[in-house]
Parts: sequence; structure tokens; C-alpha cells
Amino acid sequence: MTLQSLDSFCNWLAATPFSQVLQTVGWIVPAVQTVHILAVAAVVSSALMLDLRLLGIRGKEQSIAATARRFLPFIWWPLPVLLATGALLITAEPARSLENPVFILKMGLLLTAAGITLACQVPLHKDAAFWELSAARKRVAKLIAAASIPLWVAIICAGRWIAYVQGT
Ligand code: HEM
Repeated sequence: MTLQSLDSFCNWLAATPFSQVLQTVGWIVPAVQTVHILAVAAVVSSALMLDLRLLGIRGKEQSIAATARRFLPFIWWPLPVLLATGALLITAEPARSLENPVFILKMGLLLTAAGITLACQVPLHKDAAFWELSAARKRVAKLIAAASIPLWVAIICAGRWIAYVQGT
């Protein structure tokens, strides 16, 4: 999509009746932002609990598989909520996000964080002890966790930063 057609799309979306409702009814955007942030809290706190276990810093009385079973649902289930509330925020002010390089960065970071979470999760489906079977695997698990924590923090920073960076 060229920049011009992206701009036309943003203008079209902003002029739709639904976007006009989001723009004019004052409580909707703050309410949607609140739900977005509550979902962020669920995802990031759960990712942190799993990462601390992978690093061997917390929760060692439980296996990695048990910790993953406990916290992974709270990483994956809020993501549709984030997608839906994010889509509403975009619809309310399309150019602010869709033409913003920080928003694109945030989506890239989010895909990377989701990929890293899957890299931890998928081997556990085949073998619950996978990450605990050898010193080499434990090291890889620690690397995954050490990458995951800064990624989630960067996604939060990017989400907040969108408001302060001009679109293209
Ligand atoms: C699933 C896809 C997601 C979409 C489409 C999305 C979209 C958005 C949009 C459009 C905004 C409003 C930015 C603005 O206008 O200032 C926003 C804000 C924000 N997002 Fe997301 N987001 C998603 C996922 C996430 C995730 C996973 C996190 C963190 C882990 C996150 C953290 C934030 C934060 C901290 C804000 C700032 C809220 C505020 O200042 O009120 N978002 N997001």
C-alpha cells in the first residue's frame, strides 16, 4: 500500500459513522483505553512470571511445564481483547496509529514476542520436561526469557510513545 492510499484509507475510515461515534462520544475512547491497559497488565505480568521461572529466579518449586500451564492462558487470551480494543482506538483516530512508525514498530515487537512465547510453548507440548532435560536446554530457556522481558517492556513503551510521534 502506498503512503497516499494509506492516507486515503485513514481519511475514509475517520469519516465513517462508526468512527464519528467514537470521536464524538467522550467516554468511549478512555473506556477502551482502560480495557486495553487491563489486558496489557494480564499479558505482561503473566509473561514475567513465566520468564522468571525460565530464568530460575522464582517459582522453582514448580516445573517449567506447570508454570507454563498456569500462565500461558493469561498471555494468549487477552491478546484478542488487545486486538479488538486496539482496532477501536485505530478506528477512532486512524492516521495517528496507521501512519505512525512507532505503531509499526510496536506490531513488529508484538509478533516477535508472540514468536518467542511459542518457541517456549511448542516443545512443552511434545515433552513436558523439555526445558529441564539438559544444561544446554536450560540455557536456551534462559535466553528466551532474557529476550522476552525487554520485548514486552519495549511494546509497552512503544504503545505509550505513539501519542508523541507524528505520523508519516
Ligand atoms: C494486539 C494488537 C494491538 C493493537 C492493534 C494495539 C493498538 C494500540 C493503539 C491504537 C493504541 C493507541 C495509541 C495512541 O493513540 O496513543 C495503543 C495504546 C497502547 N498499547 Fe496497544 N495494541 C496492541 C497490543 C498491545 C500490547 C500487547 C501491549 C503491551 C504489552 C500494548 C500496550 C499499549 C500501551 C501501554 C498503550 C498506551 C495506552 C495509553 O496511553 O492510554 N498494546 N495500542
